[in-house]
Amino acid sequence: MELPADVRVLFDAANYAHLATVLPDGGPHTVPVWAGLEDGKIAFLTSPDSRKVRNLAADPRVAISVTDHDNPYAMGHLRGRVTARLDGPEAWAIIDRLSVKYTGQPYPLRSGRVVYLVGPKHPRPHLRVIRDACRPPAAADGEPMNMNDRALEAEEARLASASLAAGDPTGWFDRLYAAGAAGRVPVPWSRREPHPLLTDWAQRHHLAGAGKRAIVPGCGLGADAEYLAGLGFTTTGFDVSGTAIRLARERHPGSCVEYVCADLLHPPRAWRQAFDLVAEIITVQALPRAVRQRATTNVARLTAPGGTLLVIAAVHGGPGEQPGPPWPLTRAEVDAFAADGLTPAAIETTTMPSEPAERRWRAEFHRAP
Ligand SMILES: C[S@@+](CC[C@H](N)C(=O)[O-])C[C@H]1O[C@@H](n2cnc3c(N)ncnc32)[C@H](O)[C@@H]1O
Repeated sequence: MELPADVRVLFDAANYAHLATVLPDGGPHTVPVWAGLEDGKIAFLTSPDSRKVRNLAADPRVAISVTDHDNPYAMGHLRGRVTARLDGPEAWAIIDRLSVKYTGQPYPLRSGRVVYLVGPKHPRPHLRVIRDACRPPAAADGEPMNMNDRALEAEEARLASASLAAGDPTGWFDRLYAAGAAGRVPVPWSRREPHPLLTDWAQRHHLAGAGKRAIVPGCGLGADAEYLAGLGFTTTGFDVSGTAIRLARERHPGSCVEYVCADLLHPPRAWRQAFDLVAEIITVQALPRAVRQRATTNVARLTAPGGTLLVIAAVHGGPGEQPGPPWPLTRAEVDAFAADGLTPAAIETTTMPSEPAERRWRAEFHRAP
């Protein structure tokens, strides 16, 4: 039986699961486990002498819950039963895959572990995503990064420098998303909430999108596109990374946002001056200066007559080039969005409550009706 995509995403990533089994006296027993998917079943490893193995010998029923490492308010849980116990080469191949997922290395032992496979009881395991005010804010800059964030940053630097050295300014994005989707690093740019400078701007402008079209270049996993769709815009989110688009569609099943794989450096002609609102949020700054003017002009060209372009980006601080990506924008680079006939309406620097030390551009441009 195929697990739903949103549950598979949770088990494919390096998220910790909790496994509950039944004690001989009928009581519950639960432990955290490494878990992954093998042929549509959930696999976990254990010592053959463990409490859970003894429990399973008497009663194969289990319950498993898993939370998203990046957002513990996204979680799935299911009930099922163990359908197989594996040892020998088949088990060690699975154990190594799990170990690489969680640690980046094959498992250090070669004995004393077995693998169990679990099949879900119900065709639709329960998945719940809680998006509410109790979600803690993102860590402020300057706070220590955890190991997973460090791994993501290192992978980003490695993939970006190889891609840029080969003269390919965009190829690394999909490689990084693919590494995230495979669980080797956290999924990049996977925030679930719309950008706070977008929501703040939208609220101040009493933004309403009924009968209007919006587009989000470099939409990543779609938080901003979903927000604009929620305001009534007929919304397109596009990204050069096919993996990002797949993850966005999986994250928002049934969404009315049209998620499209497309390149801002070569956008479809039909998009020219077609959108009443263009929300460019930290995408141009992820592109090297060699292609920045082209990307900037192509963003401006998306704006329809009478339409608005909103740009949110990091502020280039101090003299000289900073190592990127990203390459925060200078004032001149923000001014450059006034291309293809757009005029600046408001250009400000501001900060977000979660990152009070980091200055951001928020700039608004209009095209005459
Ligand atoms: C820094 S991330 C920002 C993602 C998202 N806008 C956010 O705020 O979280 C840049 C995004 O732009 C995408 N991207 C980079 N170059 C692009 C291009 N030429 N065309 C379309 N998308 C691009 C990347 O794949 C990535 O999803």
